[in-house]
Amino acid sequence: MRPRDCSHRVLQLVSPPVTVIPPREPSDTYLDTSRRRPSRLDPEELGFTPRRQVAWLSPTQLAATGIRVAFAAQFGAYLDKRELQLALPTQVHDEYAAKDELWIDYIADLGDGFDATYSMAYLLAQDQLDTGERALPRADVLVLGGDQVYPTASGAAYEDRFEGPYKAAFPKALSDTSPHMFALPGNHDWYDGLTAFLRLFARRGDSHIGGWKTPQTRSYFALKLPHRWWLLALDAQGEAYLDDPQLEFFKGIAATFEAGDRVIIATPQPSWVQTEAHPRYYDTLDYFLRTVMDPSGAEVAVMVSGDLHHYSRYSSPNLPRQLINCGGGGAYTAATHHLPEEITVPPKHSVTRRASPQTKYRLAKTYPSKMRSKWLGSGVFGRLPWRNPGFTTFLGILHTMLLLAFQNEAGRILTIPIFLMVSVVMAACVFFAVGLTEGQQRFVPFLLGGLHGVAHILFGVGGWLIWRELPFRDLKWPLPALSAVVVYLPVAGVAAALLVSLYLLIAANFKVNVNELFAGQGIEDFKSFLRMHIAPDGTLNIYAIGVDKISKRWVSQPADSWFRPKEPMKARLVDDPVVFAPAAAPSDASVS
Ligand SMILES: [Fe+2]
Repeated sequence: MRPRDCSHRVLQLVSPPVTVIPPREPSDTYLDTSRRRPSRLDPEELGFTPRRQVAWLSPTQLAATGIRVAFAAQFGAYLDKRELQLALPTQVHDEYAAKDELWIDYIADLGDGFDATYSMAYLLAQDQLDTGERALPRADVLVLGGDQVYPTASGAAYEDRFEGPYKAAFPKALSDTSPHMFALPGNHDWYDGLTAFLRLFARRGDSHIGGWKTPQTRSYFALKLPHRWWLLALDAQGEAYLDDPQLEFFKGIAATFEAGDRVIIATPQPSWVQTEAHPRYYDTLDYFLRTVMDPSGAEVAVMVSGDLHHYSRYSSPNLPRQLINCGGGGAYTAATHHLPEEITVPPKHSVTRRASPQTKYRLAKTYPSKMRSKWLGSGVFGRLPWRNPGFTTFLGILHTMLLLAFQNEAGRILTIPIFLMVSVVMAACVFFAVGLTEGQQRFVPFLLGGLHGVAHILFGVGGWLIWRELPFRDLKWPLPALSAVVVYLPVAGVAAALLVSLYLLIAANFKVNVNELFAGQGIEDFKSFLRMHIAPDGTLNIYAIGVDKISKRWVSQPADSWFRPKEPMKARLVDDPVVFAPAAAPSDASVS
């Protein structure tokens, strides 16, 4: 007893009068109890740090992206832990099968900046959503389609960019009627080998995120839905084959299908539109359809994925199947105007030797529209320089060094500093085009990257010609260099960022750096998710819900979500409801 008394006294003496912040776990601290609710977006009150959206063009992020992509390409197989999940239990979630009707939400690409992520979480959490045409109730099941965190998975990143905002949006006490949440990993969840993902979503016991229960046990899952509907979520990354435990899991489920059962398949990527750049991407999905689904007699009615940050739907006149990409959960909006009007599935570019019969699909709808997407692309000049201050500063430094290299007393056009700086600029531009453009083609990115580099060199020469007419060069050393840093750097940085914007706008027409044209702008609006309804008669309706403008101003409130938008967000249907006839009569299945 004495030692304990003693140590207690010492602690009292030496402990400074600090405010004790309660630990983040257990997550019951977020539930709707008598605990004090946050009154502002303060990390100490929230228990997490609201993050800005990822600045994809910041120099450190560009370098990290390059390294990560190279690492994943070379060592991705070492990170693949799917076989290890054999140690985790499997389960078919069939608790929904006996329900008369069921609502399911699908959202993907969501763990980014607080405003966009929380805006969407807030909409998902509300009792009902007024879409203008009809009110749709909150879903019984929420499926997260991938990329629950950006840019790299870790426990802290999940807390700040996903878990915290979702808990704040839905801080309900758990009950028997609590909705369920399931998550499929996207490529960003995979960057740590799925470690943080499995800790978050595949925990044992009564785990939950806010008021959503999280009953999944592995990174893939199967839901038995009412009226002979199923939802199978495949953990199929890029060109990787499905692992044996996963295949066996789904084969076992398919063996229980009855002819005419109808299936929704969720995958991390819309491989049906990605084979031009990645010829093998569709092979895994096609193998699954041929070897698991076709022999079962069940019909795949919908394939849904995220990964591309927009909404698109392809339909076929010959097959009652819809191919939907809906990646509008929070990350920057991506272009839709480059999507092909018609695709062949399995794609022409697929290199698999055996494949399913090919079917043509037409692009039925996009959100944002192609027209809007083009218009957004042209906004790069107004957004890129200001939303990427690190990138603009980097360009300013590069051009200032180029200017200083051009300045030599002898007026020579070739010196070692000039050679070095020209080489650096050319190499950076070629890497930007070739290294960041997905796909097989190399010549076009190389050519465009080279031309981009030449444009920067000419820009540097022009800057030097103007600079030498100014009085700074006559100053005493080091004032010429100092004045270049103070005066030339910021002007050159912004002007060079505008030159990069022009390059991106042109290059995107050749399918080069299309992603950077939109990632650099960080457009947080035009978000979307799917709300699906299996009606009492077995009809499946899919509603695509879009938000043209997210909220960026929040007001704390005494009940329900911790914060509400200062101005109400307007959710609307961005596509006609897609309707599938009940499974009981598959031959009559129709799609509108
Ligand atoms: Fe994503």
